[in-house]
Amino acid sequence: MKTLMLTPCESDIKKAAAILKEGGLVAMPTETVYGLAGNAFDANSSAAIYAAKGRPSDNPLIVHICDAGTVDTIAKAVPDNAARLFDAFWPGPLTVILPKRDIIPYATSGGLDTVGIRFPANKTAQALIRECGFPLAAPSANLSGHPSPTTAQHVKNDLDGRIAAIIDGGICAVGVESTVVSVDEEGHVTLLRPGFVSLEELRDTVGSENVSMARGVVEHIGDGERVLSPGMKYRHYAPDAHVVIVEGSREEYVSFVNARRDENICAMCFGDEQGIKVNCVPYGITPAEQAHSLFDVLRSLDDISADTVYVRCPEKDGLGLAVYNRLLRAAGFETVRC
Ligand code: TXA
Ligand code: MG
Repeated sequence: MKTLMLTPCESDIKKAAAILKEGGLVAMPTETVYGLAGNAFDANSSAAIYAAKGRPSDNPLIVHICDAGTVDTIAKAVPDNAARLFDAFWPGPLTVILPKRDIIPYATSGGLDTVGIRFPANKTAQALIRECGFPLAAPSANLSGHPSPTTAQHVKNDLDGRIAAIIDGGICAVGVESTVVSVDEEGHVTLLRPGFVSLEELRDTVGSENVSMARGVVEHIGDGERVLSPGMKYRHYAPDAHVVIVEGSREEYVSFVNARRDENICAMCFGDEQGIKVNCVPYGITPAEQAHSLFDVLRSLDDISADTVYVRCPEKDGLGLAVYNRLLRAAGFETVRC
């Protein structure tokens, strides 16, 4: 299959919508990462998404809408706290998991009775969903296990020839995937995947007594243990090299990597360190910069033939928690303390 490269102009959005209406797949930009979109109501489209990504079929797809008013047509019940989250963060990088209606096939929900719903802020994504007239199931548009794509080129590198089209909307603004929460019948909110919408903001919106963080966000869950979100159990984002997270002060980090300068290593540093004497790749100083460049840097590590990459540990709150969560997965949870 030849993969068409499209732009976000009106006529190309119409072309992309025509492909989607026929059951084809289109990669679209969102404010978080690129998504691989298909008709969320069509089991065959969802099956094609899993095949194109090489994704395990029990890992559910997020359903993207372009109007918060359509949630009721997809979810069976919307607790008040879920509605509060929509008001506060939609359109934007928040996915809310609710009990699904029958219109969402099990092929889309990964066999679950729940569905993750997101109203993206990206105008191209919104225009595409509107033009289709149905919601779009869209996981990140990478091959399963690879870092999520934040540019059209990343998508092309992974999926060229496997999907009908890619809409090039430039670099994604946020750079890490949406915050994923589930909301139960009583309105309790559980954070399953941290993102741009932080744990602190969720607590401010629905009250801290109503928010908890799932096991698995920052700790390793062993094989065979039950996880709340299937995506938690898969190895993810990992480059070919061995990745280790290094905790400690800036000075301790510099000494730690310099002490290993005779080995074939790379320092994935912030960029504000002085005196690093090994090959280094900066990934940003502030959590926003780190989120923005994280996946591009993880992808670039495969071009450097280091045996081990020592990553300076980011902050663990706010958007830093999202960066830390992705790095833990890239490192297979391997952390050392200076
Ligand atoms: O920002 C994003 O969320 C991007 C863009 C394209 O919207 N999408 C994305 O999708 O990251 P994906 O499939 O790569 O990640 C979705 C995560 C997975 O870890 C999945 O297991 C979890 O959300 N998830 C989705 N639906 C779920 C459900 N019903 N129950 C539990 N976890 C769910
Ligand atoms: Mg993904």
